[in-house]
Amino acid sequence: MDDRMILVTGGAGFIGSNFVLEWIAQGCGPVVNVDKLTYAGNRGNLAALEGDARHVFVQADIGDRATMSDLLQRHRIRAIVNFAAESHVDRSIGSPGVFVQTNVVGTFELLEAARAYWGQLAGTERDAFRFLHVSTDEVYGTLEKNDPAFSETHRYLPNSPYSATKAASDHLVRAYHHTYGLPVLTTNCSNNYGPRHFPEKLIPLVIHNALGGLPLPIYGDGAQVRDWLYVTDHCAAIRRVLEAGVPGETYNIGGWNEKTNLSVVQTLCAVLDRESPRADGRSYAEQITFVKDRPGHDRRYAIDASKIERELGWRPAETFETGIAKTVRWYLDNQAWVRSVTSGAYRNWVAEQYA
Ligand code: NAD
Ligand code: DAU
Repeated sequence: MDDRMILVTGGAGFIGSNFVLEWIAQGCGPVVNVDKLTYAGNRGNLAALEGDARHVFVQADIGDRATMSDLLQRHRIRAIVNFAAESHVDRSIGSPGVFVQTNVVGTFELLEAARAYWGQLAGTERDAFRFLHVSTDEVYGTLEKNDPAFSETHRYLPNSPYSATKAASDHLVRAYHHTYGLPVLTTNCSNNYGPRHFPEKLIPLVIHNALGGLPLPIYGDGAQVRDWLYVTDHCAAIRRVLEAGVPGETYNIGGWNEKTNLSVVQTLCAVLDRESPRADGRSYAEQITFVKDRPGHDRRYAIDASKIERELGWRPAETFETGIAKTVRWYLDNQAWVRSVTSGAYRNWVAEQYA
């Protein structure tokens, strides 16, 4: 436990809220949580922390440098964990501008605020300060079937506006270490799943549509491969990197869990058939529908997570089977949450995307 505050950005979103809830539950210390509350951010995700003095929520944009500087100074922040981003690949295809604004310009403004703040710290406070940037495996581009998994030295080859903006932010973070000595850490993680995942992404969308009797859309042939990691494993890895990672280093985080999209959806249908059978007794798999492919769709991602295991002793605790069972259970038990986030704006998005 460290009494000094950390600043988490994007902590009302999927991974950020899981991270903040666990950080506080485990007594790791107090948090200032900065979130703009876009369509993906939800105060309800943090309901368990209402009235808890260890959690200060601030609705703000990471691109607002003056506010970020003020928060860093006022709360004597010891570390920043930057989750805030536009995160959905499909949205980046139709509206790339906001991805450039938040993921690139926003990260730049946050880095500038951090550089100024860190520059006036001294002694152990200065030595201990960290800027941890949460990034993605998508910056490495796509793999062929038999290619080795992405290591930290794999070249950057982003293919979507989303991954290009994440790659640009990674480069800025790296440059702030190389040029100014800012003690940064970068993590590149594979696909997460688990509680509070916004139902525009494959796994929560499929659970939501299955229960609603709607089609389960599979892009293209469904043979694209993703490497799935249960969200609390990602959060544990971030805590470990924050604690023991070497400034300037990057760490790949993954689940050693490559699955085709079709097999993920079939697994979800099988779990739902067991946990919440259809009224007509038939399988949810009958709702699977092949739809037009995502433009520029990356074929395969796979993370080689051996560096973080070797150097920091982190390995995922969940298997895909245990993680998926917990995830489906969470969604079945939290239908009120799903209803609260699938309001008018959500329905407009789905209507446009799957027209
Ligand atoms: P999310 O979309 O669920 O949450 C993003 C949060 O950031 C939301 O609460 C949103 O309101 C907030 N936000 C957006 N723009 C902001 C701004 N300008 N200022 C302040 N807050 C802003 O995303 P997620 O899936 O939780 O992803 C979190 C981070 O992890 C992202 O940086 C993403 O690139 C990265 N990541 C995600 C995955 C994944 O599988 N979801 C995997 C690897 C890396
Ligand atoms: O790899 C890490 C990345 O994982 C993160 O950086 C992103 O923020 C996160 O959104 C996720 O990106 P993906 O594009 O891999 O996730 P998504 O859930 O959107 O899609 C997973 C796969 O399923 C992908 O191959 C596209 C496919 N898909 C997705 C949807 C929404 C479908 O076949 N049908 C769908 O309706």
